[in-house]
Amino acid sequence: MRQKIVAGNWKMNKVFHEAEDLVGAIANAIDDREPDCEVVICTPSVFLEMTGDYSEESQIRTGAQNVSEHESGAYTGEISAAMLDSMAIDYCIVGHSERRKYFGEKDEVLYEKAERLIENEIIPIFCIGEQLEDREAENHFKVVEAQLVNSVFKFNKDEFSNIVIAYEPVWAIGTGKTATPAQAQEMHAFIRDLIAKKYDNETAEETSILYGGSCNAENAKELFSQKDVDGGLIGGASLKANDFTKIIYSF
Ligand code: 13P
Repeated sequence: MRQKIVAGNWKMNKVFHEAEDLVGAIANAIDDREPDCEVVICTPSVFLEMTGDYSEESQIRTGAQNVSEHESGAYTGEISAAMLDSMAIDYCIVGHSERRKYFGEKDEVLYEKAERLIENEIIPIFCIGEQLEDREAENHFKVVEAQLVNSVFKFNKDEFSNIVIAYEPVWAIGTGKTATPAQAQEMHAFIRDLIAKKYDNETAEETSILYGGSCNAENAKELFSQKDVDGGLIGGASLKANDFTKIIYSF
């Protein structure tokens, strides 16, 4: 179902007491005033139990940052979708450019990860986005289309309807160089159009497409006001309660 979402991606940051302070501060801030969007925090897996407890008592939903493509078994260090499901985790990031770059995750394995999540009723936040050289060569639409075709477009319509897409141009991640609202809108409209062509208009209209990449308390409002931008996947600014809260109320 299409809805507005602000999701924080903490990446590999914070130790336990800092994580507790941060989630507590966000919960307090939003419990005073009902947000106009779903609020998700995607934390390192060791904090999921603690943040999951907050999800039960507050409006915060919890997401993981990674999941195994395997169901269970001898995969030391891995975490399965069934494990996440058993801990009341609602979302999981898949296909983040850092996973693609540093851990060599390719479209096929990302598809399998998303498949495990859907089987366990966890919503994949599926990330796509071009590199700077792709944009400079004006290949950005082709790159994004290929990422979709080679992964989530393999799902049937029912399965796909459980997925949130996050467009994160790699050149904007952690760089302070945000896509302009017009650039974000142009790509989001392109993605929605591809979904309509692959499935149908209704599926496209019902898909939440988030923007990520140096989205912050100052620029969120203008980005979120774009017709096809349904919210954000926030990195650095999600580590500060005040900034993240401002972003939440940017709709
Ligand atoms: P920044 O907001 O720090 O640019 O990170 C974006 C991101 O990678 C979210 O997944």
